[in-house]
Amino acid sequence: MKKITVLILSIFLFVQCKDKVKKGVVADNGMVVCARKEAGKIGVDIMKKGGNAYDAMIATHLALAVAYPFAGNLGGGGFMVYRTKDGKVGSLDFREKAPLAAHRNMYVDSLNNVIPDKSLLGANAVGVPGSMAGLYKVHEKFGTIPFKELIQPAIDLAKNGVVVTKKQAYSLNKYRVLFEKANKRKIFLDKEWKEGDTIKYLKLAATLERIRDNGKTEFYKGKTAEMMISYIQDLGGIMTTQDLEKYEAKWRKPITFTYKDAKITSMSLPSSGGICIAQILKGIEPYNIGQFAHNSQKYIQLITEAERRAFADRAHYLGDSDFVKVPIEKLISADYVTNRMKSFSFEKANTSKEISHGKIAGYESNETTHYSIVDPFGNAVSVTTTLNGAYGSKVYVAEAGFFLNNEMDDFSIKPGFPNMFGLVGAEANAVAPEKRMLSSMSPTIVAQDGKLKMVLGSPGGSTIITSVTQNILNVLEYDMAMQQSVSKPRFHHQWLPDNIKFEPKFDERIFPNLEKLGYKIDKSDAPVVGKVDAILILPNGKLEGGADPRGDDTAVGY
Ligand code: GLY
Repeated sequence: MKKITVLILSIFLFVQCKDKVKKGVVADNGMVVCARKEAGKIGVDIMKKGGNAYDAMIATHLALAVAYPFAGNLGGGGFMVYRTKDGKVGSLDFREKAPLAAHRNMYVDSLNNVIPDKSLLGANAVGVPGSMAGLYKVHEKFGTIPFKELIQPAIDLAKNGVVVTKKQAYSLNKYRVLFEKANKRKIFLDKEWKEGDTIKYLKLAATLERIRDNGKTEFYKGKTAEMMISYIQDLGGIMTTQDLEKYEAKWRKPITFTYKDAKITSMSLPSSGGICIAQILKGIEPYNIGQFAHNSQKYIQLITEAERRAFADRAHYLGDSDFVKVPIEKLISADYVTNRMKSFSFEKANTSKEISHGKIAGYESNETTHYSIVDPFGNAVSVTTTLNGAYGSKVYVAEAGFFLNNEMDDFSIKPGFPNMFGLVGAEANAVAPEKRMLSSMSPTIVAQDGKLKMVLGSPGGSTIITSVTQNILNVLEYDMAMQQSVSKPRFHHQWLPDNIKFEPKFDERIFPNLEKLGYKIDKSDAPVVGKVDAILILPNGKLEGGADPRGDDTAVGY
């Protein structure tokens, strides 16, 4: 009898446990899912005060700049995709751009060799930051709470301090050597951190206070601008006050497309994200992928081959559409993509040598952070923002208390030369003054039956595209809960290098079969493929958060 009781209890606990793993935080009203719970809480508090998702976005973004200096930022940029409560979609580009003095050969020497690290580390890696312009642009159009009130919680957080997590201590300690190298001096973060320490960001608090009091001009023309430019120039950088003064965030027409009965909205150029995700999903659509088991051999083959073709097109066609003509409609059309998939067979792998970019008649490019927000009114905001590499260029404007990006590395600094994500590019993504470097950031919103279904996005350079795509499929094709979906192991192929990266938790028993078919598997590292923070709208209208366990990410709802 005792044995039976224990058995029943064990089964009950197992079921409970399984359920726990599957479902994330569920909330009735509003939710923020992001990289640090302090920032998510600040965003939710704004909604509790009556603010909308856009107000919450501004507060969350600024709080991440304090709590998550790894990628949260004032000195970087990003993209926002939104869907209003009435179902209207749009997007904002607050991507960094090249300084006026930038030129196509600035990262190669007289022999045309790439100068090691110049696009990655130090003052010449920095693009003109766009985040503050982006936040003010959002506020102008959608804000309902005064900016001063939205920035105040970040000021308080910076003054009171942020508790260091285990992962954060590891990363701060890991980059100490590079902090000193980029700044040619020690910075205040340059010491041995341990979990549980508290960091007070007093200089950053003072900068945020000046922005609170003087508005956007403080960052682009005021004292903060002077601090940035004098420090960048002191380190030998080319950015000037004119670069900051001329910066503007831009409303862009997002990429919208259908996948079966779902309507998907994602970011357009200068991000490649929306175009690549559309190409991958359109490539997969005719095969009815749901008939194959999740993460099975055929599932992997199909996604890999669709990715291979999308990334080959990315390298050839994509760049800032204010500078180069990109045949967007053609690239995401079902005809074009289906035709590209004709050379795919389940019998044998294609190689990236044989799959170049597609031919279009008459036509001649992890260290980011994403947050998803849904408010009680039904507005949804999906934002991916970045400094590019971890702590960006590692250039830390000590007086102002923040890091500057190294987004210049997202340009194709020399045709065919891989950037930090191994992505290659060509003419379309060459460096030019005031041009925006090609991105992979893919803040995305999915609607179904005319209703909001899912808000998602990820950091991770090129793996953003893969991660977002696989999570869309997890939910639409495999009916997963949001938390279950973001927790699943992922894999990635980006045309070049011609190999598939698998996350360590992937079932390796599948590898020999793939290798037999000619697929190359990257076993060199244990990479993380993206870090997805997402919200799913459940059939009863409640919100389910998916906070990626790969980081300290958290869903906060109410
Ligand atoms: N910096 C990474 C990206 O924009 O894709």
